[in-house]
Amino acid sequence: MTHRIVTLPGDGIGPEIMAPALRVLEAVGEFEFEEHPFGGASIDMHGTALTDEVLDRCRNADAVLLAAVGGPKWDSTDPAKPRPEQGLLGLRKGLGLYANLRPVKPLPALYDASPLKRERIVGTDLLVVRELTGGIYFGEKTRTADAASDVCAYTRMEIERIARTAFQAARAKVTSVDKANVLETSRLWREVVSALHAREFPHIALEHVLVDNAAMQLLAAPRHFDVILTENMFGDILSDEAAMITGSIGLLPSASLGGDGPGLFEPVHGSAPDIAGTGAANPLAMVLSVAMMLRHGLGLPDEAGAVESAVERALDGGLRTPDLGGSDDTSKATRAVLDNLFVPL
Ligand code: IPM
Ligand code: MG
Repeated sequence: MTHRIVTLPGDGIGPEIMAPALRVLEAVGEFEFEEHPFGGASIDMHGTALTDEVLDRCRNADAVLLAAVGGPKWDSTDPAKPRPEQGLLGLRKGLGLYANLRPVKPLPALYDASPLKRERIVGTDLLVVRELTGGIYFGEKTRTADAASDVCAYTRMEIERIARTAFQAARAKVTSVDKANVLETSRLWREVVSALHAREFPHIALEHVLVDNAAMQLLAAPRHFDVILTENMFGDILSDEAAMITGSIGLLPSASLGGDGPGLFEPVHGSAPDIAGTGAANPLAMVLSVAMMLRHGLGLPDEAGAVESAVERALDGGLRTPDLGGSDDTSKATRAVLDNLFVPL
């Protein structure tokens, strides 16, 4: 069966990292690709970051692969102007992708590429489970000349379904991160997570940690974590922080799941407009997002493992893009991955 994949290269380094991702996919199986403009590229063509037609095409695909959106060209504080990020939020919401999975596992070859001390990060293997379609990202927004507001709202149903995802993904422990000493949404969050834990997952350990403290522990003792369960905004911030444990945000993939339809797979990093066009972009987070798509989106775990091993072997072999302190460019990185790809029979 040929899998139909919608590809959304987006802006900045997006197209430069999408191309290697497609080459890797072509090396491991049969796929049909359908590319569409998205984000800033779509604003330029259609005046909106995500057209109804593209959302519809995504709904009908087996999986959606996205590179990155945004750039200075579309940056504006004018609320009336379209923004590339609206495409991303519209796609997540439109496909019902409430569960965002962001694994953080530094590779031994890169222990010294992290700004954190080697002995601190050795053995870290955690997963951030971020709620992706609720909270302050999607609450009502108001704006006058002198005042603005963003509402943070959560329902019991929204909290329970993401908590279930986290408990199911955990091997031993879930750390639920909130700000229950201040926020009402966090108090509901804590109540719902605790009740679900008692009812369905008593064999998994559960701890509640305030977000400021979690930010600190993530640097002080990253090995402490198994699954970090948190709401949309906290998850956004903590996952960038956690990326530095691996040495570079250029290495972190993500999967967004939960709807009845296809999942969305994208790197955690952005469109890096400062290095777009220089050939310096690290394509590994994108390639690892392909692996997550193969595993979680298309049910091809062997192919996913082959891609992950290829990335690991390429790094073991000395591949270092500029974000990792080296001078290898995107095409060299792509070649290194392809050379180390042993396709499963
Ligand atoms: C991410 C990004 C997005 C987010 C932006 C681009 C809207 O930072 O996927 O983490 O905040 O969710
Ligand atoms: Mg982010």
